[in-house]
Amino acid sequence: MNPAELSRRLAATEQIAREAGTLARTWFDNRDRLSIETKGPQDLVSEADRAVEALIRERLAAAFPGERVIGEEGGDDGAESAWTDAAGPIWIVDPIDGTQCFLSGIPSWCVSIGMTGETGMVLGVIHDAVMDETFTGGPSLGAFCNGHPIRVHEASGFGDGMVEVGVSLRRPIDETLAVLERLLRAGGIYHRSGSGALSLAYVAAGRYIGYYEDHMNTWDSCAGVALVQGAGGWCSDILAGDGLTRGARVIASGRSLAPAMRALAKGLGENR
Ligand code: IPD
Ligand code: CA
Repeated sequence: MNPAELSRRLAATEQIAREAGTLARTWFDNRDRLSIETKGPQDLVSEADRAVEALIRERLAAAFPGERVIGEEGGDDGAESAWTDAAGPIWIVDPIDGTQCFLSGIPSWCVSIGMTGETGMVLGVIHDAVMDETFTGGPSLGAFCNGHPIRVHEASGFGDGMVEVGVSLRRPIDETLAVLERLLRAGGIYHRSGSGALSLAYVAAGRYIGYYEDHMNTWDSCAGVALVQGAGGWCSDILAGDGLTRGARVIASGRSLAPAMRALAKGLGENR
């Protein structure tokens, strides 16, 4: 995809994410009126998630007709899509990442839209409608917050800042406990914000020195990974094997901390 087309796509995605964020924010401010369902343990969904994803899908379909979309609430439309070519663009949408925070009135949630292509992650946009911060970028695009360039923090060790550790109940709890113990014993400190996507944007912006989660679905991780890569950082290969459809372990940081971040997962179950 040529640079002009890439920039056009990034600008369009930013506009869609901001519009989606405005709709989500209206629901956030009126969340006592939302109907909420449970998808599983610690996994909620509300009419806000569904309405915001529907809006994003509508806008993507208008701007990029026929392209495949995978979304947290609406699933994968790949089967009906005109794009049967695996290398073609795939849009990956999380209408509200941090749903539990959103529904609890905690301002730690975001809209996340990513796009993959032949080379892996191509672009990502993460919009925080409470802070009015929009993170945009991709491996060949650089990374920005509200238009200002951002860079990962090149930490020399765990003592230099905070690592966000996400928790997935899809993996054995002992694995996350082992990671936490290793991090703390190495002089690190963990933070848990409840939005993996926003946390990855914070790694890109140098606010966290790293991110670790034993398993994330692609809608939670893709846009953030594109941003970290655009901000000069390192990420585990989340699209390897069947990562696109089944998710993967996600580790991200500056390049200098990458060996230590990888070592947190040493000997744990194969999850890439
Ligand atoms: C969750 C959040 C959380 C992460 C979970 C995700 P959701 O997404 O990103 O931080 O630890 O793995 O499932 O359910 O709020 O969209
Ligand atoms: Ca979500």
